Amino acid sequence: MSAKIIDGNAIAKEINQETAMEVAVLARNHSVQPGLAVVIIGDNPASQVYVGMKVKKSAELGIYSVRKSLDKNASQKEVLELIRELNADTKIHGILVQSPPPPQIDEEAVVSAINPLKDVDCFHHENLGKMLAGDRSGFLPCTPHGIMMLLERSKIDPAGKHAVVLGRSNIVGKPMMALLVQKAKGANATVTVCHSMTPDIAHYTKQADILIAAIGKPGYVTASMVKKGAVVIDVGINRLEDPSSPKGYKLVGDVNYDEVARIASHITPVPGGVGPMTIAMLMHNAVKACKIQKGIK
Ligand code: GUN
Repeated sequence: MSAKIIDGNAIAKEINQETAMEVAVLARNHSVQPGLAVVIIGDNPASQVYVGMKVKKSAELGIYSVRKSLDKNASQKEVLELIRELNADTKIHGILVQSPPPPQIDEEAVVSAINPLKDVDCFHHENLGKMLAGDRSGFLPCTPHGIMMLLERSKIDPAGKHAVVLGRSNIVGKPMMALLVQKAKGANATVTVCHSMTPDIAHYTKQADILIAAIGKPGYVTASMVKKGAVVIDVGINRLEDPSSPKGYKLVGDVNYDEVARIASHITPVPGGVGPMTIAMLMHNAVKACKIQKGIK
């Protein structure tokens, strides 16, 4: 049997349509337009692509956006100055700084300088704390939130299931763990997090009803690591050299798709799985940020 494909493009499209409708209502009833600032420091090619996609999607949904590009040698002071300007800019409701920044930049300090009400990535500790406490008045981090929406809209209820998360990054692994374990509808999972210091990772993955791979290792999860009928979510976006492709590379996930699709019940493809959901939830957060700042319910 072959797994059902969880179509991230289709689900993201639905969510984006809902966001576009909210943007239209904000314009009609409140004469406001959500505004998003996307900050990129340096010339990391993958980051350039992601930032371009975020700006393009904003325009498609009617969200005002600005791209702020800083040189790869930009100083911490310059970045903080830009954040101060954007915090004060009333047209801008959401600010994100594309990660990873160049090594001279203290990312933690930059994120802490963003007004928490404009922190659409949910990287600020105030928003992370709210999320951990189950307080839904703030933002949720885009990729983990996108994965929760993929599960919900595919009618997969994590309640009582064993979810195994591979990776403990602040962007995906740790918040993913927090959202899945939450005492809330669409969550209530039992969660195991595996990482670089976990011995025998396959021991855990083989027990997973829901397996979320976010470790940045191309094709890491093989069929022998997956329980029959598991739901497999692939967060990896790895560039592999491919001279036969016009771009010179191809994108592959952290899961060996062909193998695992034969035994999983559901699987997300790469590309077209989690990726579009990250952007859809960012757009959702930009609208939420606008509403919070304008006091609109
Ligand atoms: N780099 C990879 N994913 C993300 C994300 O969701 N937000 C930001 N700001 N940077 C990223």
